[in-house]
Amino acid sequence: MPKVLAQAVERIAAAACEPGGLCVLTGAGMSAESGIATFRDAMTGLWSRFDPMELASEDGFRADPARVWGWYEERRAGVRAAQPNAGHHALAAFARRHPGVLTLVTQNVDDLHQRAGSVDTIRLHGDILCDRWLEPCQHATQRSACDVARALPGRPPRCADCDNPLRPGVVWFGEMLPPDAIAAAERAAEGCAVLLVVGTSGAVWPAAGLAAQARRQGAWVAIVNPHPSDIDGQAHAALRGTAVGLLPALFAS
Ligand code: APR
Repeated sequence: MPKVLAQAVERIAAAACEPGGLCVLTGAGMSAESGIATFRDAMTGLWSRFDPMELASEDGFRADPARVWGWYEERRAGVRAAQPNAGHHALAAFARRHPGVLTLVTQNVDDLHQRAGSVDTIRLHGDILCDRWLEPCQHATQRSACDVARALPGRPPRCADCDNPLRPGVVWFGEMLPPDAIAAAERAAEGCAVLLVVGTSGAVWPAAGLAAQARRQGAWVAIVNPHPSDIDGQAHAALRGTAVGLLPALFAS
């Protein structure tokens, strides 16, 4: 085992007995080996093929609700067909063996951590498998956004009373993160003994700031990524490898 990996294994095992424990921040690379496309990988990333402002912004949705809704329906089908990988399972099994030690924060909107058994995952960018109203719908009190009857195929369902459309329950560009989620993530970064960042380019804030927050308070910070990321400078160790290739060994204790 390479020395840097052995050091990380030791640090993670030790964090299980230290106040603050372990925080793991995951990005799209965590689900790449489950067949879910990342956003910025050259050639294969979603943003190398689609314009995020047209498909992942409120303005883009208002300009062409059917196109955006259809694109998310395709992505949801991909998520439902995907399976959690060995990296997801390694994190969930470690958390079961060491209750209360690991805080899992994800930027991912898929449900693979949850299907692998991770509980209380902090979801910074929402849930692609759920919807919410585009406008605060005064008629919505009688039903939840995920229960409304589906509308015309390929088009977003609309409230029968005020024609308000549903939109995917994810955080789009230019939108605020759920306040409770980012507050919980920052608390975890401020208090942990070890922060492990898995599969993120570090291109999107405020998630990208968590590594510097952890480093500043004295946490040992490591990154799992086959390629350099924008936050490598915040890490004590950059583990060049994939989630499936490295997490089972890192979380075997
Ligand atoms: N294992 C680990 N890391 C991987 C793997 C893998 N198998 N495959 C790719 N990666 C790395 C890439 O090298 C890249 O650094 O995962 C990272 C994915 O980066 P992005 O595609 O930018 O995804 P992410 O960092 O999660 O994006 C953050 O941007 O568009 C928004 O809301 C979206 O949550 C997303 C946010």
